[in-house]
Amino acid sequence: MIQAHDKDELRIVMRGFRANAETTAFVPTLGNLHDGHLSLVRKAKEVADRVVVSIFLNPAQFDKPEDLASYPKTLENDLVLLKQENVDLVFLPSSAEMYPEGGTTRVEVDGISDILEGDSRPGHFSGVATIVAKLFNLVQPDISIFGEKDYQQLMLIRRMAKDLDFGIEIISAPTAREKSGLAMSSRNNYLNKEQREIVAPHLYETLQEIKSQVISTKALNYSELQKSVAEDLNKIGFKTDYIEIRNAADLSIATQSDNELVVLASAWLGKARLIDNLRISIN
Ligand code: PAF
Repeated sequence: MIQAHDKDELRIVMRGFRANAETTAFVPTLGNLHDGHLSLVRKAKEVADRVVVSIFLNPAQFDKPEDLASYPKTLENDLVLLKQENVDLVFLPSSAEMYPEGGTTRVEVDGISDILEGDSRPGHFSGVATIVAKLFNLVQPDISIFGEKDYQQLMLIRRMAKDLDFGIEIISAPTAREKSGLAMSSRNNYLNKEQREIVAPHLYETLQEIKSQVISTKALNYSELQKSVAEDLNKIGFKTDYIEIRNAADLSIATQSDNELVVLASAWLGKARLIDNLRISIN
C-alpha cells in the first residue's frame, strides 16, 4: 500500500494509474476506521481497478472545537486495516497541506446544507463540500463511494458533483450495522456498555416502527407521529434532536402523496450524537 503525504506524491501515483488505463474508486474518511468504512472500501474494490482512501480529520466540518479535539485518532490501526483490505493508495495530508494559509474559497451547496443536520450544525456541510471538492480535484477518481448512513451528506455530494461537473460517479453503500441494529459510527465509542448495547439500538428500532406505521396506516399524521416517537425516545434516555419523515429525493417535508420517503433521526445519548435513517417506499 502506497502512502502519499502531500499533493505532489498523490498526483504522481494517480498519474501512474491513469497511464496504465486503470480505473480508480475513492473513499474519503476522517479516520478512526471501523467496519462501516471497510464496507465502503470493499465496494470500491468491486467497482474499480484501484482503490484510493484518504484519511483527513477535516477541521472545517466540525462546528464545535471540542468535537474535533475528542475525535479518536487511530492512524496506526487505520493503516493496518486498509492494508488488510489491499487498498492501493492512502492519502494522509496535513491540515496545512489541505488548507494553505490565505485560502478564502469555500464550496456552498445551497438549500440542502441548511436543513436537518445543517440546521443543527451550522457550517458543517460547507466544510464537507469544500474538502470533498478539494479531494475530488486532487484524486480525480472515476468513482467515489459514500455511506448511506449519512444520507443528507450523500445527497449533498451528488448535487455538488453534478453542479460542478466533476464527472465522478457517486456510488452509495448501505449502512453497516452492529448485531443490535445500531448504525456503525466512530461516535459509538463515546457510549458506555449499557448505552451501546441496550439503549442505542432503540433508535433504529424506532425508525423501523415508523416505517411499518407509514406503510400500514393510511392518512397517518406524520408530524404527530414524529413528536410521539421523539417523546418515547427521550423517556428512555435520548435527547432527540430531530426525527423527520421527508421526501427521499429532495428532503422536503413529506406529504401523504409522496411515495418515496426517508425517515431521518438524530439524537444525543450521553456524550454521543447518533444519526440514522431508513428509506420507506409506499406502493
Ligand atoms: O463522512 C465523512 O467521513 C466525512 O464527512 C468526509 C466525507 C470524509 C469528508 O471529510
